[in-house]
Amino acid sequence: METKLLKADIEGLTLGAELIKNGETVVFPTETVYGLGADATNEESIKKIFEAKGRPSDNPLIVHIADKNLVYKIAREVPEKAEILMDKFWPGPLTIILKKSDLISPYATAGLDTVGIRMPETPSAREFLHLAGVPVAAPSANISGKPSPTNFEDVKRDMTGRAGGIIEGEPSRVGIESTVIDMTGETPAILRPGGITQEEIEAEIGTVIGKKTLRDGEAPKAPGMKYRHYAPSGRVYIIKGSIEKTVSFLERIANQKKKVAVLFFDEFKYLFPENVKFISLGRKNSPQDAANRLFSALRETEKWGADLVFAPEIPENGLWYAVRNRLYKAAADNILDLDNLKSVLFVCTGNTCRSPMAEGVFAATCKGVFVSSAGLMTEDGMRATDNAIYAAAKMKIDISSHKSRQITIDMVKDADLVLTMTQAHKKMLSGFPNVYTLSEFAGEKGDITDPFGMGEEEYLLCLEEIKNYIEKIKI
Ligand code: TXA
Ligand code: MG
Repeated sequence: METKLLKADIEGLTLGAELIKNGETVVFPTETVYGLGADATNEESIKKIFEAKGRPSDNPLIVHIADKNLVYKIAREVPEKAEILMDKFWPGPLTIILKKSDLISPYATAGLDTVGIRMPETPSAREFLHLAGVPVAAPSANISGKPSPTNFEDVKRDMTGRAGGIIEGEPSRVGIESTVIDMTGETPAILRPGGITQEEIEAEIGTVIGKKTLRDGEAPKAPGMKYRHYAPSGRVYIIKGSIEKTVSFLERIANQKKKVAVLFFDEFKYLFPENVKFISLGRKNSPQDAANRLFSALRETEKWGADLVFAPEIPENGLWYAVRNRLYKAAADNILDLDNLKSVLFVCTGNTCRSPMAEGVFAATCKGVFVSSAGLMTEDGMRATDNAIYAAAKMKIDISSHKSRQITIDMVKDADLVLTMTQAHKKMLSGFPNVYTLSEFAGEKGDITDPFGMGEEEYLLCLEEIKNYIEKIKI
């Protein structure tokens, strides 16, 4: 589809508002992230949002308004504490969930009886919403699963050909999405941490359900929080440990044919070696800096082609908590403790079928262990075979950015554990004390045969076999 690129001046905003009224989708800037908007009262328009993003339809959208009076048309009930929050934090990065009226399409709220409402702060967004005259449902304007876009260049890359129009605005000031608070229960509950902190909210309306309960997995969460999120193509790890250990660990990995990026604070920039790509999270003491840069930093790792992305632990207080929430999701909660590091190397022949599939399964299921793979007789830099990528994708594991590596002595020495697919592979590494076949380490017998050149079915069976063994191993 044709995507109109619009300026954030009166002409562009008017054209954008016209597109919304005509049932089209329009990307617009906000202080949190760019949103992909459509008329929230129009079912056909809403469907276009889900299509453009590839978003699961059970994930409700936030409705954006510029005029507070619309709240009383969109919601059936507005509790006193919700009024307090709106008066204090609107316009701004806070989404308030209220009981919904019939005005908003059930497609926008994924059939829920509630609706999230937000009044963004960015002046051009407010003017655009004002001109559109209808409540505008808008998720973050990224392809589902990817980091949210915080600047025009990123959103243009994602949404050209997918949205009716894109309004070119400033980079987003906050940089991570709004806080989502559910005001429909007895005690308000923060479903998603964001630009307004729990501490700020509690100062206005008293205790809310938040951090602790979220961590215990007890709080009701926003449906969207269950999906994989914010993931760039390289695998993300959180690293725990001194800066010295961090630097030497990353240097070693980067010397083993991996493109390594590190998201870290400016104060430490010059400690990292040249073969590690440094991407700034801003100043060490500034959660605002980190929030502002996080998504564009994650995207930068992808543009640079990082195989692996490392990031520091993040504190839990104030705005840090929202940064932590996004970053740890990008890392799928994979935290490496450098004081107690375990690493596994999977080995096969070509490093394009069996060992990349094993690496993928292992990374998805065994958290806190560093995993990689290599081949005994291969070339560097080949993709996994199409059928290996296909089989892994069936298990929701993405190995599409895998690159093969010819094994080196350092790789074997550096790993705590080397797991081969066959006895023959193991023999080729005889002399190293840490080498086992995958099946023997799982307490079983047998080689995993090479599916190279075979069909999808054989690959699926092979992956299933690998997965069964991995489930049995204890590191
Ligand atoms: O800052 C933001 O909120 C951005 C900008 C564009 O406004 N929007 C945004 O939307 O982040 P989205 O769709 O990416 O995330 C909305 C989140 C999801 O986790 C969704 O499940 C939750 O809010 N949510 C929306 N309506 C809800 C409802 N009625 N009940 C519970 N959770 C809801
Ligand atoms: Mg989103």
